[in-house]
Amino acid sequence: MTATIEKPAVSTDRRIVYRSSGMPTQDGAGVKLTRLVGTPKLPDLDPILMLDTFRSDNPNDYVAGFPEHPHRGFETVSYMIKGSIAHLDNHGGKGIVTDGGVQWMTAGRGVAHSEMPAQTNGQLFGFQLWLNLPAREKMRDPWYADIPASDIPQIDLGGGNSAKLIVGEWNGVKGAGPDRAIAPFFADVTLAANGSIDVPIPVGHNGFIYVFEGDARVGTETVRTGQLGVLSSGDRLHIEADGQGARFLVIAGKPLREPIAKYGPFVMNTQDEIRRAIQDYQSGTF
Ligand code: CO
Repeated sequence: MTATIEKPAVSTDRRIVYRSSGMPTQDGAGVKLTRLVGTPKLPDLDPILMLDTFRSDNPNDYVAGFPEHPHRGFETVSYMIKGSIAHLDNHGGKGIVTDGGVQWMTAGRGVAHSEMPAQTNGQLFGFQLWLNLPAREKMRDPWYADIPASDIPQIDLGGGNSAKLIVGEWNGVKGAGPDRAIAPFFADVTLAANGSIDVPIPVGHNGFIYVFEGDARVGTETVRTGQLGVLSSGDRLHIEADGQGARFLVIAGKPLREPIAKYGPFVMNTQDEIRRAIQDYQSGTF
């Protein structure tokens, strides 16, 4: 006779397993930014390849922008809290993302573009996220969308708490971003003083929070303003604010578990594919 052992139906809370204030760096034509994911200590968080933030009231920190440069094999998602980025690419894509808007660009087999930041009322504060594509979609057609702030659902979570849902699903509301193999989740959450919420990240997703106002508590850990907190696995994410309230991003995706070969703006699966990307860009076939 064999006994059947059933898994106990306990829920496991996600915890914070790593905290970081990121690494100051420069990119483009000398834009000062902070790299939060894509650093030596946190090279990636499958399927999230990179997160940069730029925040300054001094135009000299960013005015030179990002002149023309290529991308292949992944997607860039730019989210501007304050200020704007003008975008121009070699496939006829052109737009400006501004004050609460998102620019979603699927590089696929290749895009060459420029990105030029500009401030609003003296302020620039934004993020650029790189999301990986599965091997079978790395050479797909490029795609591009400007998503204005007015198209991003704002979800009332009660008690003065709210979330802007850039992509993913929350309380039956679908975010503004496209459907993708990695089922991306990206929300900008505001908690009132002493507010708390459960964030519905799918089980099995990798993810993190990035706090930019107040402090956020996850279990016994506190993630402070300017810190990234990488989440453990689990089936529940509960976040609390103290008396000052808090505002933070929650970003997560379904891991691809595929090899990553990275070289600057190209993210492929093998070194051969990287060599091919460099050749293709140099011979002008992007
Ligand atoms: Co770019």
